[in-house]
Amino acid sequence: MDYETIIVETRGKVGLITLNRPKALNALNAQVLADILVAAKGFDADPGIGAIVITGSEKAFAAGADIKEMQTIAYADAYVQDLFVGWEDFTRTRKPMIAAVAGYALGGGCELAMMCDFIIAADTAKFGQPEITLGVIPGMGGSQRLTRFVGKSKAMDMCLTGRMMDAAEAERSGLASRVVPAAELVEEALKAAARIAEFSLPSVMMAKEAINRAYETTLAEGLRFERRLFHSLFALDDQKEGMAAFAEKRKPNFTNR
Ligand code: HXC
Repeated sequence: MDYETIIVETRGKVGLITLNRPKALNALNAQVLADILVAAKGFDADPGIGAIVITGSEKAFAAGADIKEMQTIAYADAYVQDLFVGWEDFTRTRKPMIAAVAGYALGGGCELAMMCDFIIAADTAKFGQPEITLGVIPGMGGSQRLTRFVGKSKAMDMCLTGRMMDAAEAERSGLASRVVPAAELVEEALKAAARIAEFSLPSVMMAKEAINRAYETTLAEGLRFERRLFHSLFALDDQKEGMAAFAEKRKPNFTNR
């Protein structure tokens, strides 16, 4: 498969997607969305892949939706085409996705990072929702996901002032799960993904599904959902193998069955 705007590689059981529009600081245009969807769906369907890393360049994870592409869109077209709805498809990826963010993650770039399951930030990362400076607001989930990550006060601050947040603030406020030196970013993200990919895939996917349910439902329903998924894992060989390996003081050999 030839991609125009991304580089797609596999590293063992990990799928690596690198945004590659350096001249536009990886701005997300329609082609990037099309490419990312094919790559993510391909990895999701590939039994040899257990986790996915999405990264950009040293200078920019992505500097936002492509402003030049959006500039002349008429309201009727934005509404009728349901502009950006395609990104919802991306969030239906069922295997874990780690965003490895160095440099700018602005607007749609910050929103893309937040669509992933967690964010590992380089110490050079800068997050922001600067849409307000362009006369618009976040349109790929920023007002909703940023609020859930960092709370109302900081989300309001970011979306209303359009200011950027550095890596330390992002980690402090729960947007990034960890910060690493820029030179080690992709390596660290690949290491985390490789670790995930060694576990039993059904349990990994259920952990992701259960945590995502926390955003969609009440605590009582979420707890019931978690318990039912938990029960279902006892139907798998991998639960028997994982617990037997612990008892026998050896490494488990998971088969994803
Ligand atoms: C299109 C972009 C772009 C973008 C940068 N470029 N960001 N093109 N869309 N979002 C292009 C520039 O036009 C320039 O192209 C090249 O990338 C390099 O950018 P510079 O500005 O020259 O780099 P620098 O001076 O280092 O500044 C970096 C920057 C700045 C601070 C990140 O580029 C910037 O502010 N970008 C826009 C950030 C932003 O507002 N993002 C939100 C987008 S709206 P040329 O051809 O001149 O070399 C969004 C909304 C989502 O995401 C949904 C709501 C509708």
